[in-house]
Formats: sequence, C-alpha cells, structure tokens
Amino acid sequence: MNITLVGAGAIGTLWAVKLTQQQHNVQLWTRDSAPEIIVHFSELNSPTITTDYSFSCNDPHALAASEMVIVTVKAFQVTAALTPLLPYLNTDCVVIIMHNGIGSQQHVQQLLPHNPIIYATTSQAAFKPTPTTIHHTGLGQTWLGAINQQAQSQTHIAEMFNSVLSPSQWHTNIYQPLWQKLAINCAINPLTAVNQCPNGDLGQNCYQDQLDSICTEVAQVMTAEGVNTTSQQLRHQVDSVIAATSANYSSMNRDIFHHRLTEIDYINGYLVQQAQRHHIDTPVNKQLWQAIKHMESQDHE
Ligand code: PAF
Repeated sequence: MNITLVGAGAIGTLWAVKLTQQQHNVQLWTRDSAPEIIVHFSELNSPTITTDYSFSCNDPHALAASEMVIVTVKAFQVTAALTPLLPYLNTDCVVIIMHNGIGSQQHVQQLLPHNPIIYATTSQAAFKPTPTTIHHTGLGQTWLGAINQQAQSQTHIAEMFNSVLSPSQWHTNIYQPLWQKLAINCAINPLTAVNQCPNGDLGQNCYQDQLDSICTEVAQVMTAEGVNTTSQQLRHQVDSVIAATSANYSSMNRDIFHHRLTEIDYINGYLVQQAQRHHIDTPVNKQLWQAIKHMESQDHE
C-alpha cells in the first residue's frame, strides 16, 4: 500500500518502520523540506542492535498517490498538519488519526468531508533519544475504528495493522477505547509532568489519594457519556500501566521538561469540559489542568 505518515515522532516512526518491514511503501511528511530521512531503529528487547531505514519525505506526487495517510502529530497540531495536504489528497484515501486525548474529531471531519476517517489509539511504546534514533520499548494493544460513515466498511485496515504490529483490532465504537486511554492519560500524564518523575514513581503512597480521585471523577464522566466503566476498573488499568511503564517518562513529562506545549487541553481539559456539560464536579482533574496550563504559560511568556 502507498502510505504517507505525517509526524515522525516516536510512535509515528515506529509505525513507519513496521509498515516498511511488511513491504508497504511509506513516505514521511515532516515539518522541514528534507527529501530523505535515515532512521536508526532497534527492535523490542534489542536496544543495542540498530538497523537503518531510509524514507523519502515530503513528495506531493507520492502524497497524491497515497491510499492511506496516517497522522501521528499531537492533538493540537492535527488541523495545522492536515490543512496543507488537502489539495493533494485523493477522496478515497483513508485518513487515520492517532494521538493521545480526544477532541480533534470535529475539526478533522470538517476538513475531510469525503474521506474515510479512522481514529486509532495505541499502547505500543517507543523512545526517540535523538531525532533519527527510535527504540521500540513496549508492546501494547492498538484499537482502530470509524468516526464517519465512509470509514464504516474499512475493518480490513485493522487486520493490516495487526499483521504489521500486533495486537491491533477494530472497534465498532472507537470512542470506548479512546475514553479508556484518556482515563490513563488523565492520571499518569499530568502527575508525572507536574512532579517531573518517571511513571513508576506514581506507585508511591503520596500519589494514591490523587489517583483514586482522578479515577472516580473520570469514571463519573465516562458513565455520563455512555461508556461503561467503574472507578475501580480505571484504577486497576492505571496501576497496570504504571507498573508496565515504570521506567518511562510520560509524553507530558517530556513536553514540560523540553518546554513544549502539552496535550493537556485534549486530556484533563477535555474531561473537565465534558464534565461541565453533564454538571459533574471534577476538582482534581481541573486543578491538574490548571497546573499544567500554568507551567506552559511560564515557558511561553
Ligand atoms: O502519553 C504517554 O506517555 C502514554 O500514553 C502513557 C500510557 C501515559 C505511558 O507513558
């Protein structure tokens, strides 16, 4: 398949390499105009053995010939990343959006009224120590699902993703796994960013009450949104991710560390906005949203 991958971060590059290994023809779309990138990639459990992959980049002809575009930029970058591509995109081209958080869907549907649009969420983990070095650091479930009518019949895309990087599965209501992942991100991301600690530190006693409160608030909003869960289930999932990624620094931790904007508006911010619609009080999520906004504003004065 001819594929353009937009946003060569850790997760985007991981998918680009895995798709290339299965003979798909992948070009990268990047912020600069480089015609080629060489990526040094290491497989899971072999961090010291790297293989080089060469990707052509930013070719409008290849974009026009793409049957699939995968967008892996951050939630707040999706509109700006997609807009310059619109003149080249074939209306049959399947567009897959993969980012932490919820809230870009409406804009994307407005930008692409004809294309099949799929949203995806992944628990695969990758680490990018330099701009061209990627380590695959963890296996995890990927969910894909349609968010418009045109994409309803594209269930085979999940099979293709599964053959590239398993486990990947189609979900008939993608908002369910998106909310499940949102709950994990509401808990882990702001706490590890505010406290500048690795995920595993959230196992310490001093964080347990906050984690409980976050899960209770998120479970109330998810239930009001029609997504079946309990605070205990969410707490269990959060604890499992903390244990499985204990040495990792969350994406928001890294964003704050490197003085970049974070996805907080699409994570705890989105949660608080949905809570307000349902008249649910979410003080702990609101306080964390405000704390991260404050840290961002200090960095971007
Ligand atoms: O954003 C992240 O870093 C990840 O989604 C997660 C699951 C919190 C693990 O670090």
